[in-house]
Amino acid sequence: MSVSGARSMLPALTPDEQRHSEAVAAAIRAAITAAGGWLSFERFMELALYAPGLGYYSAGAFKLGPGGDFVTAPEMSTLFGGCLAAECAAVLAATDGEILELGAGTGALAASLLSALDARGALPRRYAILEVSADLAARQRARLGTLAPHLRERLVWPERLPDAPLRGVILANEVADALPVRRFTLRGGELQELGVALASDGALQDAARPPDERLAAACRALLGERPGELLPQGYTSEVNLRLAPWIASLGACLERGALLLIDYGLPRSHYYHPQRAAGTLRCHFRQRAHDDPLINLGLQDITAWVDFTRLAEAAVDAGLEVSGFATQAAFLGALGLERLLAAAPDAVAHARLAGEARRLVMPEEMGEAFKVMALTRGYHAPLAGFAWQDLRRLL
Ligand SMILES: C[S@@+](CC[C@H](N)C(=O)[O-])C[C@H]1O[C@@H](n2cnc3c(N)ncnc32)[C@H](O)[C@@H]1O
Repeated sequence: MSVSGARSMLPALTPDEQRHSEAVAAAIRAAITAAGGWLSFERFMELALYAPGLGYYSAGAFKLGPGGDFVTAPEMSTLFGGCLAAECAAVLAATDGEILELGAGTGALAASLLSALDARGALPRRYAILEVSADLAARQRARLGTLAPHLRERLVWPERLPDAPLRGVILANEVADALPVRRFTLRGGELQELGVALASDGALQDAARPPDERLAAACRALLGERPGELLPQGYTSEVNLRLAPWIASLGACLERGALLLIDYGLPRSHYYHPQRAAGTLRCHFRQRAHDDPLINLGLQDITAWVDFTRLAEAAVDAGLEVSGFATQAAFLGALGLERLLAAAPDAVAHARLAGEARRLVMPEEMGEAFKVMALTRGYHAPLAGFAWQDLRRLL
């Protein structure tokens, strides 16, 4: 979609939103000027999403849920947490461990997962939430504060990853896609890095320049020495150079157990396919997806799909084992989605849950685009969620 196309199809901003967006734009313009006229897209995305008091995740935008900008699986249905409970219960039993959830959004997964684990008699000793957004952490505390006391008392919000080794489960649903990415584009047979600069009227605009050595090396590893022979002119995509340090930090604190990452994404050969010439970067504003990150600053989500091959490589480098890779549909199916549906208390609940289940697993909804990857350390029992499908050969 073109820039003007994106603007014209999106709802207009309220005066307050307009003011907020202009404040974020002013902060980004100042950062561009301070950096000598150009910011990498990674830095731009970091400011647009996480600048204190201004960024999309740091400030008070409504964000997730039906009244927000996008709906995640745990927001859509308690069936998601219900299925995950089966996998978590087995790992918790074997490790006598705890759960650490990263980036818990509104707390929907924590609520449904704790309830489902309680019903199984498999509650963790502790349920920790590590959240970078103060606004979302406040919403999580308010929502989860209404849980029964024996659930509520297990919840903690640490400021950082634990120093002490963690046994149990680490969960991250739709967090990897929110890490800032670098962008590159093919011009005249050469790869250029895409960043953000100022037009003569002060507006933000895309600006290309030769990649630094780190990005150039990453692109060579992905696309070979002569990408111009493989890819069409104008080919644009993303590479997430923050994924490996993030996985390394998670791996460093996991002593025994499993790390479950759920996100939209692809194995590398599909991600960087020549036909995916516009990349995977997407913006979400009031339930509409578009591809212009330079508008609605601080008011819209900006994401990129996950290169699951990069994730797996980072895991191996961090000494973790890649123990499962499957579509969300196969993962939830193997964990008993149908059984949970069949246990609905009445016909009305069944009809509602059946509709939610379809959105979680149908290929044209979340079922195929979303994948689940399990990374383990010191845990060798089979993971039930991967009993139906093993896509590791595609990585
Ligand atoms: C797209 S939302 C997903 C929210 C929730 N997991 C869900 O599925 O509804 C991304 C979340 O990740 C958080 N986040 C982003 N980077 C993070 C990081 N490095 N560590 C922990 N949380 C992070 C955001 O603040 C937000 O809560």
